[in-house]
Amino acid sequence: MNIESAINLEDLRQLARRKLPRIAFDFIDGGADDERCLIRNRQAFERYRLLPRYLRDVSQRDLSVSLFGKTYASPIGISPTGLAGLFRPDADLMLAAAARDANVPFLLSSAANASIEDVMAVAPEHVWFQMYGTRDDRINMDLVERARQVGVRVLVISVDVPVNSNRERNKRNGFSRPFRMTPSVVLDALGHPAWVLRYLRTGGIPMMRNWMPYARAGASAADVADMYGTLTPAPMISWDHIQRIRQAWPGTLVIKGLLHPEDAREALRRGVDGLVVSNHGGRQLDTAPSPLEMLPAIRAAVGNEMPLILDSGVRRGSDVVMARCLGAQSTIFGRPTLFGVAAAGQAGAARALQLVRQEIDMVMTQIGCRAFNELDRSYLWPAPE
Ligand code: FNR
Repeated sequence: MNIESAINLEDLRQLARRKLPRIAFDFIDGGADDERCLIRNRQAFERYRLLPRYLRDVSQRDLSVSLFGKTYASPIGISPTGLAGLFRPDADLMLAAAARDANVPFLLSSAANASIEDVMAVAPEHVWFQMYGTRDDRINMDLVERARQVGVRVLVISVDVPVNSNRERNKRNGFSRPFRMTPSVVLDALGHPAWVLRYLRTGGIPMMRNWMPYARAGASAADVADMYGTLTPAPMISWDHIQRIRQAWPGTLVIKGLLHPEDAREALRRGVDGLVVSNHGGRQLDTAPSPLEMLPAIRAAVGNEMPLILDSGVRRGSDVVMARCLGAQSTIFGRPTLFGVAAAGQAGAARALQLVRQEIDMVMTQIGCRAFNELDRSYLWPAPE
């Protein structure tokens, strides 16, 4: 199978599984504790059926969506994922280019390998910058200022990592930060020589470039990763930090990772412009509800104006349609585009976006809906208990 013959996102996952050593594949694929949240994120989409309407002339469909003053071609985007350079050198730049070409947003993680400055040079209109609050408020505010200086329009603060979670696949595989080549990792990696060669050719663990200005001159990639590990997670982050960022940031401010309707309401009160409703793809709190489950209550809490973007477990066009019916303007996903980029670089990420877009279009045609924006609860039917 190659990238063109991949007919769905699961095919891309399988392609990536073959290309990557297990330690790297599992780092992407895995979740917290018993990985029940991962399963819950998929099962949530089983709670409803899409009830088709016919005889409505659906020869033309409009999948475009407006978010924060910009029109995107499809109601999808790429979630922020740190350390993507571990799966392929320059993965962040490839993801950004794929998003630009598909005219959808790309959320660059502050824990990425490429810097915000480099990525903005590739896709100035499509990059949203995601950061975690760190233990050092000067660094927090400097990151906000750097984003402003390079012309980022949407700043996303992820709030759902107050502590590093229990990822048991990583523990079993010996995945640690900084990344170390233990004998068993080397043995497994020998089965994936292309990855090993790229890894060695680019100097081993990739640099987290956003953090270089805060490290001493000449710091190695491992030094920078160590320093990053002392700055995050930052459990002291609170609404006060959000308030300060809101005051300093003139652009669109989005919070990623809220699940409680009261928190969503508080975000609205604090002048936050939009939310990514997410449980971090099941990688943090294994007992968290799926974002799809919480979506109606969050929509009710914030009213109709605030854009909500659903993240976690989206794997089919029908998932995107369902999320819209339950109150989300758009959706983003993380692992599928990472698998795509690991398997085939920019073309792989582009393939993931293309596949989901095609599926959304097909589902909309089947259910008799001409415009994505017109989807509502009338298309939903509850699955039998
Ligand atoms: C993530 N995620 C994440 N989120 C975030 O806000 N900042 C980050 O740096 C990262 N890093 C990261 C790395 C990897 C390898 C993965 C798989 C995920 C979470 C990510 O943005 C998103 O919430 C989930 O990936 C969504 O779930 P799906 O689409 O992967 O099921």
